[in-house]
Amino acid sequence: MESQTDTGQMEQRKGRRLVLFPLPFQGHINPMLLLATILHSKGFSITIIHTNFNSLNPSNFPNFTFHSIPDGILESEASSKDVVALAKLLNTKCVEPFRDRMVKLLSDVSEEPISCLISDAFFYFTQAVADSLRLPRVVLRTGGLSSFVVFVAFPLLRERGYLPIQDSQLEEPVAELPPLKVKDLPVIDNVDPDSYYEIIAGMVNESKASSGIIWNSFEELERSELDTLRQEFPNPIFPIGPFHKYYLTSSSSSLLDQDQSSISWLDKQAPKSVIYASFGSLAALSEAQFLEISWGLANSNQPFLWVVRPGLVCGSEWLEPLPSGFLDTLNGRAHIIKWAPQLEVLAHPAVGAFWTHNGWNSTLESICEGVPMICMPCFTDQKVNAKYVSQVWKVGLQLENGSDRLEIERCIRRLMVEKEGEEIRDRISKLKDKAKFCLQRGGSSLQNLDSLVSHIFKLES
Ligand code: UDX
Repeated sequence: MESQTDTGQMEQRKGRRLVLFPLPFQGHINPMLLLATILHSKGFSITIIHTNFNSLNPSNFPNFTFHSIPDGILESEASSKDVVALAKLLNTKCVEPFRDRMVKLLSDVSEEPISCLISDAFFYFTQAVADSLRLPRVVLRTGGLSSFVVFVAFPLLRERGYLPIQDSQLEEPVAELPPLKVKDLPVIDNVDPDSYYEIIAGMVNESKASSGIIWNSFEELERSELDTLRQEFPNPIFPIGPFHKYYLTSSSSSLLDQDQSSISWLDKQAPKSVIYASFGSLAALSEAQFLEISWGLANSNQPFLWVVRPGLVCGSEWLEPLPSGFLDTLNGRAHIIKWAPQLEVLAHPAVGAFWTHNGWNSTLESICEGVPMICMPCFTDQKVNAKYVSQVWKVGLQLENGSDRLEIERCIRRLMVEKEGEEIRDRISKLKDKAKFCLQRGGSSLQNLDSLVSHIFKLES
């Protein structure tokens, strides 16, 4: 990995520090901590600033320095399902504590000098703080390039009447962004649209104002979106993913305990037979949806490993909505857990398909293991990711929202049994190879990583 790095520069970099600031949600923490590990391997010292809300466990990362800041988020705000309101609060309440912490870090002469701040794109307030401290800020955008291009187009989409979405237009194509239809636009139901547009604008505009944007993606996957962004954005863009495939020993940044019983259960299943179902860390299902999914899985006759996160089903603690005796009738064909070691699960030979909400991390992790997807996006970028999986890369099938058990059963059959599934499997296995090559000597992501390191090095002077 270091083969292309100029060793002279590497020497000079030693003694330089990067300050990283992850957004406190699982799908954002994982890639930021992986990025920290990658940059640490390039000779940088790492300081992580994190909020008290969804606080991190420093003992998993003994090589990094951690500082927590009091975010002032109340219990009631933290447990709210309104992620837009929470993102806005974080961007308001963290300003002073973050600034105070940065001032302390910058004036601490016992530590190495700080080259730059790397913040999550959704912590958009940090651009103004960094400017005021004359500190360069680089952004990590944890989602894909494809959905970002759509976020960039939000002002246009609003001007042309695509947004806010009208139910009568759901099936209409978005002519400016093929192959998206109106229903694929990355919105969230039941939140204040103006607040949502505000955080998206903050995320896009302050990314544009930054000294560079890092992506957990790779050129071969999203080349045309990368070209679009390189034309529209003045700052450099570095797709250096997939982060979790750098073969560094990286520690877990999971906020929940990962149930290892899933691996011993998978060990007993036939190759490529299991459907792994998980809908990420934030998505929620209604009780009716949950029951249709349960019956769809049960009736598919395939073994399944299902992550039912506590709180996944609105109004329930865990599995209460399941009919009594449901699991007994399946004779060991099902294993339900609260949280999985997802990377290990997807890499397990018994897994044949991933039924996912298409969070960007899950999507990329599935591609990297060559596991075809059943797509059931819930909100925001997941909708764009699902469309790309099913219609651009053609490595999965998308279930329509509100699918019933018969449709689910049919979709599983198409993927697991029919010829269509074989073709999809073949395509994702080729994409898996591309993901692998970009991290090999001369590969696009390694080259971009070298450019990123040189770029950071130039920022200091
Ligand atoms: C959120 C948003 O929902 C998503 O749209 C955005 O792209 C990223 O932030 P999240 O719901 O957390 O994503 O899903 P995802 O991006 O897939 O990230 C989940 C992470 O948790 C993955 O790295 C996955 O490996 C991990 N995970 C998930 C586990 O370790 N165990 C599990 O059981 C499920």
